[in-house]
Amino acid sequence: MTDSPMSTFHRRLPGVVYGGDYNPEQWPREVWPEDVRLMREAGVRLVNLGVFSWSALEATDGELDFTWLDEVMDLLAAGGIAVNLATPNAAPPPWLAENFPETLLVDRQGTRVSIGSRGHFCPSSPVYRDRSRRIARALAERYADHPALAMWHIGNEYHAHCFCDLCDDRFRGWLRERYGTLEELNRRWGTRFWSQHYSDWGQVHLPRPVRGSVNPSRELDFARFTSDLQLELFTGERDLLRSVTPQVPATTNFMQFFRLVDLHRWGQEVDVVALDIYPDPANVNSLADAAFQYDLMRSVGGGAPWMLMEQAAAAVSQWKLNLVKQPGRMRLGSLQAVAHGSDSVMFFQWRASRQGQEKFHSAMLPHGGTDTRTWQEVRDLGEELVRLGEVATGRTAAQVAIVWDWTNWWAVEGVAHPINSLDYRDIVTRHYRALWRRNVAVDVVTLDDDLSAYRVLVVPNQYLMTQAHSAAVRRFLEDGGHLLVSFFSGIVDEDDRVHEHGHPGALRNVIGGHVRDFSPLPVDTAVTVRAAAHQSLLDGGFRAAAALWQDDLVTESATAVAEYTQGYLAGQPAILDHHLGAGRAIYLGTQLDDDALGELVAAVLQRAGVESVHAAPSGVEVTERQTANDRFLFLLNHGEGTATLTLDRSGVDLLTGHAVETRHEVVLGPGDVAVIRSPLSRVASSGS
Ligand code: GAL
Repeated sequence: MTDSPMSTFHRRLPGVVYGGDYNPEQWPREVWPEDVRLMREAGVRLVNLGVFSWSALEATDGELDFTWLDEVMDLLAAGGIAVNLATPNAAPPPWLAENFPETLLVDRQGTRVSIGSRGHFCPSSPVYRDRSRRIARALAERYADHPALAMWHIGNEYHAHCFCDLCDDRFRGWLRERYGTLEELNRRWGTRFWSQHYSDWGQVHLPRPVRGSVNPSRELDFARFTSDLQLELFTGERDLLRSVTPQVPATTNFMQFFRLVDLHRWGQEVDVVALDIYPDPANVNSLADAAFQYDLMRSVGGGAPWMLMEQAAAAVSQWKLNLVKQPGRMRLGSLQAVAHGSDSVMFFQWRASRQGQEKFHSAMLPHGGTDTRTWQEVRDLGEELVRLGEVATGRTAAQVAIVWDWTNWWAVEGVAHPINSLDYRDIVTRHYRALWRRNVAVDVVTLDDDLSAYRVLVVPNQYLMTQAHSAAVRRFLEDGGHLLVSFFSGIVDEDDRVHEHGHPGALRNVIGGHVRDFSPLPVDTAVTVRAAAHQSLLDGGFRAAAALWQDDLVTESATAVAEYTQGYLAGQPAILDHHLGAGRAIYLGTQLDDDALGELVAAVLQRAGVESVHAAPSGVEVTERQTANDRFLFLLNHGEGTATLTLDRSGVDLLTGHAVETRHEVVLGPGDVAVIRSPLSRVASSGS
């Protein structure tokens, strides 16, 4: 039996891989040997090479010249540095646009974009596809047996949205395949409304600007189509590369909270999931939100370790205000990714550019060279990662899942809703943070996934629910699961058509009540909520501020857990608790303040018997990864002060190399991290 491409990769690059994007074409060749020397000094083992090199490799149509790349590949190989070689399709050269203007993307307003930046290609253009595949094939054939080649980096952060005629044609083709007949399309899109009924396929178009508000079902299909179209580009190149180098894994870099690509689908098509992430030091929640993205990456890859492909060593340059990472915080963020399942720590980019759009973006090697804090921290981290090598390939087992669903994202932020500024990302991350603060392991799923491994399922704002979703939730409860579902869920089906028989149609008989009216709250207004009498979930002293939304809830077979004490719904339930099968469904009909949501989540976890990975003071994040024989406990102090915790196990502190005993006190300075390795059996016995 042949090894999978990723096993081949791990054998070649065991442990936690360190490196970054390398753009040598921006530098004279005298710099390259120094790059390799310094990479070795920093512990770099893998570079992403050639991501934006198309024009440097093909100066005019068909004139491929790999001389400089040969030299760089050879230099890296000689230095023992492996290459994640990019297909350069993200930035087509000017000649492509000049010779074939139809390869340029058209935005929603109908403007064909110009060259001078990147990502300006139309994903449907046959010429673009032909030329990008030609260079990808040439790279594969040339470097198939090159000792430096370890992985393929296909394109860069796919996220194109194009409204040209070519895309319009492809959209119609996609719809014909999906619906078969025009009548079916008319039915799914509800075209009797406002006289939109189509009598010929030629009348069907992608959603270019309209006079009034848009048809939400068409928008939803366009979002699905956009994700599929780009995936087709990716898989086309992947298959081509596989045909030449079947043992070399292929991936592309995903981006945090990218709306245009459904990563649950994409995750199944890459050999390893890879993420670019830029947590904003100005945002106090950015590392909790990063943890959410890390858990999502692990989950979309089926639980396998993933790769942190890009992050900033210090500051980025693309925001209004670009704060630098304070001392130790780059290390903390990097180790946090490893704690959540990454087997690599990589950066954009290796050497800071002197020119161009990103010249003030930080790099592993800053403008100031090796005499800088950043370089020192980069070098130190490289050394530390060697000590964490054993962690690689380790997995995480979760008893809790949270739903994050792209199709729902596209639908719930649709038009003409009770609130037209609803922020799905904000709502889900609030729920995630409540779990994160309790240090429980969390998978990020959709309701199409197998839910049988989970004891708790958190479903925030799942507006779009199919019959299958409804059945999955019911099965989860009947099997004894604990469900927490929040407002404006179970409202429409896959076509954005309202479920019949009142709200929430897809959750009727699940939540033990129904919603009489959706009742958004005015901006900057909150009403108070308190624990109801005769309920068993919350502490009797529970008090909360509720904002954004209220459901006018009617209790049927559920118990009211909390009720409003203000406003026209005073005395009415805000939270319901319902027995169903062997399980419990908690329905939250409003948005609670963060502390109160935390209390509710804690109560659900406790009732379900889910414990945190390890007891820890507030501000300390705890995760665990497990390999065949060992468990690795990660303790990460996000706080500004020292934190102390008492270990429930003995083992070895991998970063210091010291043995530690059960009840040992781990002292973590601000931003500090400890990683404790324990044999699997010993943890089990110390826990008993
Ligand atoms: C990423 C991108 C990189 C670089 C980086 C800057 O999204 O892939 O090429 O632009 O952002 O933060």
